[in-house]
Amino acid sequence: MVKALVTGGAGFIGSNLVISLVEKEYQVTVVDDLSMGVKAKLATVADQVEFHEHDVCDHEFMHSILDEDFDYIYYLAAIASVADSVERPYETHQVNQESVVDTLEYLRVKGYQPKKFLFTSSAAVYGNYPELPKREDSRVQPLTPYAVDKYASERFTIDYGDLYGLSTVAVRFFNVFGPRQNPNSPYSGVLSIVTNCLLKDQQFTLYGDGSQTRDFIYVKDIVNALIFISEATNSYGVYNIGYGKKHALLDVIRMFEEAAGKKLKIQFAEARNGDIQESLADITRLKELGFKANWGLENGLREYWEYADGKSK
Ligand code: NAD
Ligand code: UD1
Repeated sequence: MVKALVTGGAGFIGSNLVISLVEKEYQVTVVDDLSMGVKAKLATVADQVEFHEHDVCDHEFMHSILDEDFDYIYYLAAIASVADSVERPYETHQVNQESVVDTLEYLRVKGYQPKKFLFTSSAAVYGNYPELPKREDSRVQPLTPYAVDKYASERFTIDYGDLYGLSTVAVRFFNVFGPRQNPNSPYSGVLSIVTNCLLKDQQFTLYGDGSQTRDFIYVKDIVNALIFISEATNSYGVYNIGYGKKHALLDVIRMFEEAAGKKLKIQFAEARNGDIQESLADITRLKELGFKANWGLENGLREYWEYADGKSK
């Protein structure tokens, strides 16, 4: 039986990943302190997953879990809100960097050799430089504690590979959307907020004029990419994960309205301070590894709406 550990497995992306790993008949262990995650997201696989409601910063606990000697470790646990990292830089650092390094160090000291240790980073590391598309070797400009910790943890992940022979890889997500994303914070992903507004007939506030572009990617393609990259024996270093296509936010909203068969009530407001105008991934490395996305934006939007609409009834 293949054994996988998913930290942050009760979160948006983590829960989707866990469900896919269970479908592959992996034996899955989840560590999540439920600070943002919700156990109910794993309801359909609850009896097939070993779930630990625990803080990844508790080193002793994590060591006892790591002693199970996993084939794959997917490190998703993080305080994923950029704004929260600005409010609480030291606490978020403990989760977003310290806990990652401690895990890598324990693997090294104990001589464990998972087939892959995969760390999930963010396009936030690129910051505000205008060059597009973003290649993995583009200049980085980590402007917030979140981005600094993601970048440093990527580097630790890769260095533990280069220096100590662990099989490691890091990924940079662009804008992910889909089922199980929590819409309840002002910093939630924009399409989860749009979905909520459409379902509840509420007004949506669009910051800026809607011309800002993003490389949106459906969570099922993200999960497939995570599994593909972790299982590719020749994957190494950092991979961008997006579709390599940029769309204006307003265009995506129009596509979503079409999928939903409903009009969104939009109120325009000043652009958010520090908001990036354009974002686009160069996904050459991912393609060269052999990965091909199946879903795409339109199918993803359609399926996401069907899921959300179905849940609301
Ligand atoms: P999420 O907040 O839904 O998931 C993170 C999970 O980690 C949550 O379930 C939370 O409860 C858990 N967690 C937080 N602190 C913990 C701790 N101390 N101990 C144990 N568990 C803890 O976020 P997500 O969108 O699913 O993001 C998953 C990963 O992908 C994160 O590392 C995030 O930084 C990264 N990421 C996400 C996006 C995106 O568009 N969603 C973009 C770039 C990077
Ligand atoms: C997203 C990620 C961030 C990641 C970055 C990488 C989320 C929540 N954030 O940031 O973790 O580092 O991509 O590229 O997934 N907007 C509105 N109204 C709203 C909410 C948002 O108009 O109610 C606008 C924002 O101003 C922005 C766009 O929608 O222009 C996208 O916002 P958001 O989903 O928060 O993502 P990013 O800021 O791109």
